[in-house]
Amino acid sequence: MTEDTTFPETGIKAYRAALLDFVDDPFYAPELDCVRFFADGLLVLDNGRVKEIGPYEQLIDRYQNIPITSYPGMLIVPGFIDTHIHYPQTETIAAFGEQLLQWLNKYTFPTEGKFKDKEYAKKVASFFLDELLRNGTTTALVFAAVYPESVDAFFEEAYRRNLCTIAGKVMMDRNAPDFILDTAESSYTQTKELIERWHKKGRLRYAVTPRFSITSTNAQLKMAGRLLKEYPDVYLHTHLSENVDEVAWVKELFPECSGYLDTYDRAGLVGERSIFAHCVHLTDEEFQRLSQAKSAIAFCPTSNLFLGSGLFKLKQAKSTEYPVKVGLGTDVGGGTSFSILQTANEAYKVAQLRGQKVTAFQSLYLATLGGAKALELQDYIGNFAIGKEADFVVLDLRATPLMAFRNPSPKLSTIEELADAAFTLTIVGDDRAVHATYVMGELAYKKT
Ligand code: GUN
Ligand code: ZN
Repeated sequence: MTEDTTFPETGIKAYRAALLDFVDDPFYAPELDCVRFFADGLLVLDNGRVKEIGPYEQLIDRYQNIPITSYPGMLIVPGFIDTHIHYPQTETIAAFGEQLLQWLNKYTFPTEGKFKDKEYAKKVASFFLDELLRNGTTTALVFAAVYPESVDAFFEEAYRRNLCTIAGKVMMDRNAPDFILDTAESSYTQTKELIERWHKKGRLRYAVTPRFSITSTNAQLKMAGRLLKEYPDVYLHTHLSENVDEVAWVKELFPECSGYLDTYDRAGLVGERSIFAHCVHLTDEEFQRLSQAKSAIAFCPTSNLFLGSGLFKLKQAKSTEYPVKVGLGTDVGGGTSFSILQTANEAYKVAQLRGQKVTAFQSLYLATLGGAKALELQDYIGNFAIGKEADFVVLDLRATPLMAFRNPSPKLSTIEELADAAFTLTIVGDDRAVHATYVMGELAYKKT
């Protein structure tokens, strides 16, 4: 705790509500050691960063003269983190009837072709980012399209909103229509220019983004590896082992490789800033390799169910022997919702189909601190540790008639009550439960 008696002071303000965040991983440590909860808490910010957090009654004496915003009956949690999403696919959400490879050809590639037009891309990026905020998501790892204009459009809109986002130009030089292809050389040059322009500008970061091994030649994957060597603090973002036909095709395209992950590994793409979306059909050896390399998986249950891809093995990813970093991803437009709460709902059901249980605290951990760790952003976001950037969501646990009926008491006094209410939130909650979203302590969305 800090001593402070010099108020009023510029930049200091506070929020009063129930407060919940995570200080450790409930897949490995007892839940009560991981959850930090103040039934009547005060979150104090200094210029958009966390200054102090604790029980209202204990802190209020030292913060008499600062502006305090009260959200009675609401729960404040750290902003949600979406570790895999495609902004150009916003308009293809809910496309009928296909699995991955046919879905890409029929819906996705034609739609992404529109993003050469920067004005169009700006409009979609703006809608997309507003939709994230409406759902309480304050950080996302985002696929743009193949065109550099689509990346500029995205980052311009994210920068304007001061959002901590990671994105990149898709690299793809084969097995797709010509209008959406680049070449190994052009993808290298364009990506380099985009990194120089955007990486670490404000809260933005860049991800080298080969679409997947089917649409990149070995030469292009090598170029991606070269970029990672030249810029060691950028990310690698791609897809891996999502669908059985995809895995079989990768085997045909790369007969020299021991498996799908090896196609990336040989190009130097498997490291601690690498995020692999899906990973539904990984072998045990591939899980071990991801663990050893400290790479991360984006678990995208709404997408895996919608595209009929399969059931992710969450318990294997979160094993003690070979732990892999995991975050939740919506994967819109393969995924069916922008809501991380709805993503948690489907994650629970995927685990059920494997005979496993995911608790609400585990889901909310994946949605916040777990996601931050998957993106190597845990020094900046993910919980309310002192000094972190204060992105947070104000949640209404009684937002709908059904939620209010299910959670009749507006007060959460005990951890058991919280666990039950949090579980309800992750099963029947969605954008309607998001009362307000804050980005670095500034109101970015308020439900009307
Ligand atoms: N694999 C390669 N591209 C894509 C994509 O756009 N969406 C999903 N879900 N999987 C992919
Ligand atoms: Zn995807």
